[in-house]
Parts: sequence; C-alpha cells; structure tokens
Amino acid sequence: MDEDTIDDDTIDEPRIGDAFGEIMRAALAELTGRGPRPTIGGTIPRPVIEIVERDDGLINGAPAARYLCGPDEWQPFDRRALDRLDAPTLDVGAGPGRLTLALQERGVPVTALDTSPGALEVAAARGVRRSVCATVAEHAASGAAYDRFALLGNNLGLLGSREAAPGFLAALAAMARPGARIVAQGTDPYGGTDELHLAYHARNRERGRMGGQLRVRVRYRNLATEWFDYLLCTPAELDEVLAPTAWRLESVDDADAPFYVATLVLR
Ligand SMILES: C[S@@+](CC[C@H](N)C(=O)[O-])C[C@H]1O[C@@H](n2cnc3c(N)ncnc32)[C@H](O)[C@@H]1O
Repeated sequence: MDEDTIDDDTIDEPRIGDAFGEIMRAALAELTGRGPRPTIGGTIPRPVIEIVERDDGLINGAPAARYLCGPDEWQPFDRRALDRLDAPTLDVGAGPGRLTLALQERGVPVTALDTSPGALEVAAARGVRRSVCATVAEHAASGAAYDRFALLGNNLGLLGSREAAPGFLAALAAMARPGARIVAQGTDPYGGTDELHLAYHARNRERGRMGGQLRVRVRYRNLATEWFDYLLCTPAELDEVLAPTAWRLESVDDADAPFYVATLVLR
C-alpha cells in the first residue's frame, strides 16, 4: 500500500448505544456543575453539543441545553402547543422531560415515554414522576389510555415515513380515549435555499422517499444511535400520510412558519 494511503481497517466505527441519553447526562452536568461534561484540558468547560449525522454526510450540531430549559425560554409555538395539552397526556419522545415537567407544574397528569434510558434517567433526576422506557407499540400493549399525545420538539418527525407512520399512529389510536388529540410540532423543510438541502430532497425523491424524510443518527463522543428515519413534511404532505390512518388533521397553527403545530383527532 502507498505510504500516504490510510488503511480503512484501522479506523473504528462509532459504537452503537444511547448517544442521545449520554448527551442529556452531559447537558445536565453542564447545567448543575456535577458529573462528567466536556472540557478542554480537563478544566475549561465546553458546551454540550448534540450532533446529528445525515445519510448524505451532512453533520449538524446544536447546543443540548435547549432540552433542559423552561417554558420562558421556549419558542412561542411550543408554548402555544403546551396550552393544547389540557387533559391526561402521553409525552411521546419526552427526552429529559422539559414538557412533562411543565405539564406536571400545571397539574396535568402526564407520562413521559422515550426509548432512551439515559434521557429518562435525566428526566427522573429533574423531577419527572411517571415515565416509560418503550416504543409506542410496546406501551400500547400495556392497555394504558390517554386524552392527549404530545409530539413536541419537532417530534412529528417520529412518524418516520409514509410507510412507518400508519403503525406508529395505530399504536397511539389504541391508547386514545374518546375525544383524544395528538398535538405534534413539525417543520416544513422546503422553504429554504440551501443547495445541500435542496439536493437532499431531490435525492430522496429519486429513491422513492418523501423529500424531507431524513435518515439520521445521533452522535456523541464515540457513540452513535442506530440510523433512523425522521420525517420533516408540510401540513399538506401530513394530510396525505394520515389518509390510511384513524387520525385526521383538525387544525394547523403555522403562525411561526416554517414551524407548525398540527392537532390530529380521531376520524
Ligand atoms: C428531538 S428529541 C425531543 C425531546 C422532547 N420532546 C423535547 O421537545 O425537548 C427526540 C426524542 O425522541 C426520542 N425517540 C426517538 N425515537 C423514538 C421512538 N421510536 N419512540 C419514542 N421515543 C423516541 C429520543 O430518544 C429523544 O428523546
């Protein structure tokens, strides 16, 4: 081999694990000053950054502290979504529980559901009283029932894809009491001019995927989650995704476009 060529066999892939949970643990340590967190030279603190890697090679980093802040620091659409959660709620993909805590404070019965054990440990440390580490399908099998399902923090994305959404939504329908609502925050991905994103949408469509059907994984230190689909779509695309399901679009609050809060009701 040429001396200048690097042998790929010597490069390790990240280890698959609870990367998101580890980010949340570090973010809590950053907030409280207790526990392992990033530093330079073991002394100078560095911000905890959530890294999301997309399957076209794009990486994106954003401060993780936003997952731990209170309603005063939330985006206005998140606060308006919170007001819609006025009955017993399942906080789906609750992470470290900023929304669950806000609902607890308002006296609304709420359960945090997440697949990340680390995120739920942080949620419990911050005062979240009820949590379930499971997928929605696993939790539906327990017979639990709710009046509201919260998919905030862009968690409309958990619908995943045109193909995966019906199964996910069927699990929520199985837990829905009469009059139940899903309150889901989404993002219209198509308004921007960034060439990289425009090319990604085109690449997705060529492959039979929805334009904003992101395939991503979360990275932290030497950890990565498995790759998963996370759906960014317009309200019109959402309407099409809902067609074969038990849910219909009741209203869309797009006052802060491209971000929106969709409310879904059983047909
Ligand atoms: C973008 S974060 C949002 C956290 C929180 N809702 C907020 O607004 O701060 C997404 C969360 O969804 C969780 N998650 C990802 N896939 C999931 C799934 N299939 N079922 C439940 N939770 C999931 C992740 O572990 C993470 O905590």
